[in-house]
Amino acid sequence: MVKKKKKNKINVLVTGSNGQLGKSLKYFYKKNSIYKLIFKTKKQLNITKYLELKKCIEANNIKIIINTAAYTNVDLAQKYSKIANSVNAVAVKKISDLCKIYNILLIHVSTDYVFDGLKKKPYTELDKCLPLSVYGESKLKGDKYIVQKLDKFIILRIAWLYGPFGNNFFSKVMYKFLDNKNYYMISNQYAYPASSIQLAKDILKLIPIILLNKYNKKYFGIFNYGPYQRKISRYMFVKKLSKLIIKNVSLVNKYKLKTNSIKNKFSKKKNNNKLEIRPKNSMLENISFFKTFKIKKQTFDNNLKLSLTIYLKNVIN
Ligand SMILES: NC(=O)c1ccc[n+]([C@@H]2O[C@H](COP(=O)([O-])OP(=O)(O)OC[C@H]3O[C@@H](n4cnc5c(N)ncnc54)[C@H](OP(=O)(O)O)[C@@H]3O)[C@@H](O)[C@H]2O)c1
Repeated sequence: MVKKKKKNKINVLVTGSNGQLGKSLKYFYKKNSIYKLIFKTKKQLNITKYLELKKCIEANNIKIIINTAAYTNVDLAQKYSKIANSVNAVAVKKISDLCKIYNILLIHVSTDYVFDGLKKKPYTELDKCLPLSVYGESKLKGDKYIVQKLDKFIILRIAWLYGPFGNNFFSKVMYKFLDNKNYYMISNQYAYPASSIQLAKDILKLIPIILLNKYNKKYFGIFNYGPYQRKISRYMFVKKLSKLIIKNVSLVNKYKLKTNSIKNKFSKKKNNNKLEIRPKNSMLENISFFKTFKIKKQTFDNNLKLSLTIYLKNVIN
């Protein structure tokens, strides 16, 4: 009997795999895909180390890198700007240089923090970047290196990434529901919040699309990413989450969740205040991404429901 020759899979490196996006990619990755994901935590692969990166790329014959590794603590980045820059800017330059040498496609994640949030409308991919914070500046430098160096790249700009894994707004609120204290949520800062779960699912859809279309250059560039464009404040986010929970009486009883103590707060801080490092308007117009890749866009409500389901099944139990 003639043995069927096994087709070589495309190897895809995922950096920062212990973060919320990294974990979400792991959650949805199916081993029978036409590509193989190789997950590396910070301990296994420090992206600031050029030689470590090079070794990993060569040893695993990497053809695509999904860079989810980043220094994401916005407040600490103000104080530790050197570390933020080394991870979000210099390391991204190293990754870009290696992608150029080894002809690798780079899928990178960026942020609304590259904008100052003063625009009255949603930000498009063409809007001028004016970061307010060290974090935003360092991420913008990373984006610029990629654009300068590479032709084969996808930068996905997202805002308010949340989901069942890791430390983020969603998981912090879920903890708050467990206690009885009153708390305040800001109601005059807006975004189209990106779900790490949905983002992971969509990134995994991009790979076969790009491979089947032989790396067609129409797929490369900077894209804003998010759910259907309905503006959401932190206060609305929590209210929607509490409504989802209240609907499920058995859930409220089982986890003794308390959702009645949310109050709204109107942030009086202005963006022209030097101390303000977070954009007030984080809405990213995301038409181009879904048109280009022909992927179905989801609503914020559906994404939130899915995050809650996965959180209850995998995290809290
Ligand atoms: N979270 C948001 O609201 C948000 C919004 C917009 C854009 N983004 C962007 O989305 C992407 C994913 O964010 P996320 O929320 O998943 O971040 P995250 O949960 O903070 O995960 C980032 C991961 O990168 C790792 N890391 C840090 N320095 C590293 C290094 N030198 N080498 C290798 N790994 C390193 C971290 O490890 P340690 O934890 O051990 O340091 C962590 O596991 C990032 O590019 C971020 O800038 C996030």
